[in-house]
Amino acid sequence: MSLSDTISLFFGLLFVLSFGYGNPKDLEALCSTCKQIIDNFDKGFEKTARKNFGGGNTAWEERKLSKYETSEIRLVEILEGVCESSSFECNHMVEEHEEHFETWWFKRKTKHPDLHKWFCIETINVCCPKGTFGPDCNSCVGGSERPCHGNGRCDGDGTRGGSGKCTCDPGYEGEFCLDCAERYYSEEKNDTFSLCKECHSSCTTCTGATNKDCSDCRDGYQEDDEEACIDIDECSRDPPPCKDKEYCSNTDGSYSCNVCDSRCAGCKGPGPGNCLTCAEGYKDEEGTCTDVDECELPDAVCTEENQECVNTNGSYKCQCARGYEKYDGVCVQQAGSDDRQEGPAEDSEDLKSENILTEHQDL
Ligand SMILES: *[C@@H]1O[C@H](CO)[C@@H](O)[C@H](O)[C@H]1NC(C)=O
Ligand SMILES: *[C@@H]1O[C@H](CO)[C@@H](O)[C@H](O)[C@H]1NC(C)=O
Repeated sequence: MSLSDTISLFFGLLFVLSFGYGNPKDLEALCSTCKQIIDNFDKGFEKTARKNFGGGNTAWEERKLSKYETSEIRLVEILEGVCESSSFECNHMVEEHEEHFETWWFKRKTKHPDLHKWFCIETINVCCPKGTFGPDCNSCVGGSERPCHGNGRCDGDGTRGGSGKCTCDPGYEGEFCLDCAERYYSEEKNDTFSLCKECHSSCTTCTGATNKDCSDCRDGYQEDDEEACIDIDECSRDPPPCKDKEYCSNTDGSYSCNVCDSRCAGCKGPGPGNCLTCAEGYKDEEGTCTDVDECELPDAVCTEENQECVNTNGSYKCQCARGYEKYDGVCVQQAGSDDRQEGPAEDSEDLKSENILTEHQDL
């Protein structure tokens, strides 16, 4: 026995052990493997058909091709393409049932053209017809015609696994998916049919589509004079719900607080145009809070000798003029500044930051 035989025997045993006496999920997996095989088989079938009907064939080629059409060579070519080489389950299933494919190919194809039905459902018994599930292909809850009454998914549908129970679509609940879930109302219902629609966003429970059909209002909504649920404007509450330097935005069913622009001391909205009052260092200019240029004020703010004023956002700073440096709290002529009158530009940045005498943050 070669090494590869040993390995495939080992995996074969492993396969039988893990899938042979399968739990419902493994049985579902077997069916999906089988479906994949049939899908790829159909693709291979088409591909080999196209490949060999190029046209312009001689009578001899016609005969040869029509022979190919039903030949074992073509079957083998198709089967070679149905599995990824890495898919153990797929290769195993094809190998195990190779003779079934041959039987179908040579003897059943005409009478049973649906290979999925013949192979997966009726021959190797890993799938069931649509709307049925489990070892004996019993009907799903709600019947095989419309499992779960069309409002859910039947567990194990179309496989030999599963429980046949329903997982309902959003809006539906109950064993049969005929009941409406919370925040949905019944638009139409009889013993076998149910249509549920979503309540208006202002309701918790309702009997119809509008905000007048609420049985109860959701949080953030209240009943108005006409018994309709309407949004509560939390922003107009007294006291207001946001902090001093925040503004309030009302939203459907709620509200939010956002920080004011830094140029405002208080505000009613975003940006410097919605300030109630301007922050220090800013002044109201046609409804917008704008930086005050302290350096341009009639009364000079930097009064020490050899100082210059630099305006900043909301403030200003006093620094030594070019060619001067801070020494003992005053601006003095830089040592050797005569030699380096037109010193390199990159130095001036360093000088500036070293030479700041006073920085006014809170004028
Ligand atoms: C239930 O309602 C659906 C949709 O209106 C209808 O097609 C069906 O015939 C009804 N069934 C019964 C039993 O009344
Ligand atoms: C001042 O603030 C504005 C907006 O926040 C910004 O674009 C600008 O660069 C700032 N100017 C200075 C000198 O920091």
